[in-house]
Amino acid sequence: MLLKNLTLNDKITDILIEGDKIAKIGKIDGEGIDCKGLTCLPAFCDMHVHLREPGQTAKEDIESGTRAAVRGGYSDVCCMPNTTPVIDSEYMVEYVKLKSEKVASCSVHPIGAITVGSKGEFLTEMRKMTDKGAIAFSDDGRPVENANVMKLALEYAKDIDTLLISHCEEKSLAKDGVMNEGLVATELGLKGISSASEEVMVAREIILAESLNTRVHIAHISTKGSVQLIREAKARGVKVSCETCPHYFSTTDELADGYNTFAKVNPPLRSEEDRKAIIEGIKDGTIDVIATDHAPHTKKDKECTFDEAANGISGLETAFSLSYTSLVKSGVITLDRLVELMSVRPRELVKLPSNEVEEGNKANITLVDLNATYKIDRNTFFSKGKNTPFDKWEVQGKVVKTIVNGKLKYDDGEIK
Ligand code: DOR
Ligand code: ZN
Repeated sequence: MLLKNLTLNDKITDILIEGDKIAKIGKIDGEGIDCKGLTCLPAFCDMHVHLREPGQTAKEDIESGTRAAVRGGYSDVCCMPNTTPVIDSEYMVEYVKLKSEKVASCSVHPIGAITVGSKGEFLTEMRKMTDKGAIAFSDDGRPVENANVMKLALEYAKDIDTLLISHCEEKSLAKDGVMNEGLVATELGLKGISSASEEVMVAREIILAESLNTRVHIAHISTKGSVQLIREAKARGVKVSCETCPHYFSTTDELADGYNTFAKVNPPLRSEEDRKAIIEGIKDGTIDVIATDHAPHTKKDKECTFDEAANGISGLETAFSLSYTSLVKSGVITLDRLVELMSVRPRELVKLPSNEVEEGNKANITLVDLNATYKIDRNTFFSKGKNTPFDKWEVQGKVVKTIVNGKLKYDDGEIK
């Protein structure tokens, strides 16, 4: 495959792909795909998605979820184990891998559960699961409540050199809250979730990782306090990394006004002060990664009262545009830094090979039109989950083509 006239590092050039590799970058003769006006980036890697397979395929499956992924510019996704049943054995890991080989549009890397059934009691056989392809471990969707279980898990993970991803939520503080604690919750008469419920757990994970001198990754941080805790821990050398999601820097809890269940997510959308602190953390390097926490749900899961509605936002198809618009277009960070957050750093954390656009590297490439503006339309999503609070938002920066392992998998609205 020959890609002609694309923009790479501010220069116009061509790329020849042979097999699954980038064979040559430079002026190349011959007919090819005209990429005039498109900027070439290393394809993104999402280290936090929910593909819902097995068992919850009304919400999503590997096929639909990875179609959404390539539309979003991703060549790699790491899927969370809170499926039915939970991905907590080597057989389950193998199932996800085998099914993905058959139906997925991009590479799928299963994340195994930390505890059996994600019940927080007994550790899973992480080594066996790693051998079958589990790329990291998490009980995402719920916290590992027992600190000693988390400590043992961190020791075990250190032993086999894998990454633990912690869903930070102190249940006794979160109680039965359904949105951010604050003015909006009070006005709506809804029960609030305090920032402390996230931050107490972030502090615990930092203390455990520090005492064991091992690494830990904090999922979906949403509060000013979490950013500050991680900033301070990093400054004293703790091996803590973290991610946030586009919804935590693009909007606030005000979006839940009118009991908008599409704005219900866990952790909840927070205050303007938190949003600004998240942006600060992205800017100064405290935040390592932008992940989507792509959490597709059915119409039924969301068409109900706010209290009853499921938590989650379908995020794969809007992540780049929202991030580009809120962070790069607005002048907060450069496009290079956004690529670091969406492609380079997540790969480092889960130990996937780098896919910088260089000769000899695997051809995992995303071509974006940075000048294109468009209105997000949830009805066009490839994901079964149409649950986005960003419908009709005007955004800039559009994924036009995604190449996965040398093959064009997404081309301007179409799955290949
Ligand atoms: O909003 C969320 N949705 N947060 C989680 O922690 C779980 C996720 C899901 O699985 O739907
Ligand atoms: Zn999640």
